[in-house]
Amino acid sequence: MELPQKGLTKEDIFKKLDKYKEDDLDWQSGKAFGYIFDPGQEILQFAKQVYNMFLSENALDFTVYPSLLSFENDLVSIMRKHLNGDENVVGNFTSGGTESIILAVKTARDYYRDKKPEIEEPEMILPTTAHAAFHKAAHYLNLKTVSVSVNPVTFKADIKEVEKSINKNTIFMMGSAPSYTQGVIDPIFELSEIARENDIWFHTDACMGGFLLPFFKKLGRDVVDFDFSCPGVNSISVDLHKYAYTPKGASLILHRNSEQRHFQLFAFADWLGYTMINPTIQSTKSGGSLAAAWAVLNHVGEEQYLDFAQKQIDIVREIKEGIEEIPELYMMAEPEMTLISFSSKEVSVFHIIDEMNLKGWYIQPSLSFDNIPASIHLSVTLSNAGHSDAFIKDLKKSVEKAKNLPPSELLSMFNQFMKDGGADDLLENLGPLLELAGIKDGRMPDRTAPVNEVLDAIPSEVRKKLLLEVTNTFFHPKS
Ligand SMILES: Cc1ncc(COP(=O)(O)O)c(C=O)c1O
Repeated sequence: MELPQKGLTKEDIFKKLDKYKEDDLDWQSGKAFGYIFDPGQEILQFAKQVYNMFLSENALDFTVYPSLLSFENDLVSIMRKHLNGDENVVGNFTSGGTESIILAVKTARDYYRDKKPEIEEPEMILPTTAHAAFHKAAHYLNLKTVSVSVNPVTFKADIKEVEKSINKNTIFMMGSAPSYTQGVIDPIFELSEIARENDIWFHTDACMGGFLLPFFKKLGRDVVDFDFSCPGVNSISVDLHKYAYTPKGASLILHRNSEQRHFQLFAFADWLGYTMINPTIQSTKSGGSLAAAWAVLNHVGEEQYLDFAQKQIDIVREIKEGIEEIPELYMMAEPEMTLISFSSKEVSVFHIIDEMNLKGWYIQPSLSFDNIPASIHLSVTLSNAGHSDAFIKDLKKSVEKAKNLPPSELLSMFNQFMKDGGADDLLENLGPLLELAGIKDGRMPDRTAPVNEVLDAIPSEVRKKLLLEVTNTFFHPKS
């Protein structure tokens, strides 16, 4: 593509947009169990209206837009109460969970640079269920990560193993509420007490559950303490663009007090330009997602969010019961919120996923790691209401079909490559191999089981290299 000499008409552009969209995930079908948090048309249209109203405002300069500053402080005020924080708790609005997490890690790093300058190689302890965003933060901020296996039955952080991994360089510990893949809540109170005793920063990753879990509690569900009620918790990441159903680009990073948050901020005055003060990573940013988040929370309100929580509890129960009725399948863990993980000892989960995807569902594979087998992940949301029966019916059929599908030839070819030439050879011959896998022009094939089988079978280091190389080919304009 090149910039057109003469601009296209709006009609032509809309036609092209529709064409581009043709193969996108149909997020309005109710059949997507990932990526999508759709509150329904009434709230969505309202959110879009507010988003548009603040689309052009630039949240870079909070002195010029007092409206945006007020929205941000209001959201922090709502959420600190929701998460049992007192009035010392402060925070900022960010673009998403990953940005909130990177900021938590940056704050901890700079806090200990100041407090314990003798630590030259700071380390973070991460249970294997910690979201990849923590590893991304370590990668960007030059911290060492120490991965600790979770309990293989409960999938929760192993308190003893975490404690054993502490050394004089440890500056950061965390727990998830809940973890993404298996949807269980770590023993946050116990972990954060250990962190407190050892003068280590403790972060609760409540990106998924920070908004929803307090409603579960209000509905009488048992939810362990994970928020500022735990004295050892220094910071919490909580996404609004997940279970608060606001438009994407909405998360909060909350800190126990402003002395701590001080280390999150960035200011620069040694250049010829404007005084640059950034509380978060982004600089210029639209006010749209912030205003829309403020509006959606205030519009939906406590009562309706409680109703949403109950609906989601019901869907999870229906789906879990359905899965348990299929003899070839088993639940990986007891879902503590709305995230379901299941697997099979007899049938390839990757084939089951393909069969389901061909029937219009979107369900997600989790590859095996650290002696935990590959599994299927579902993020249950409001839009799945009324689809449980159809889902289970199709799942039964998919398991039956998948039973009779053979392992792919691709896997044996990859294995041969690895045996003959090792990982380097594999990466050097990526082009033809991708073609064999059916990956072409940045498009995945209809059946992804062969690709997933290969990714699942190779060591994680090779897996990582391969994914990077493949991604490099995806973001490549056609010549
Ligand atoms: C537990 C957890 N933490 C962090 C994130 C990252 O959030 P985002 O995709 O908004 O950056 C996710 C995303 O699913 C998550 O589930």
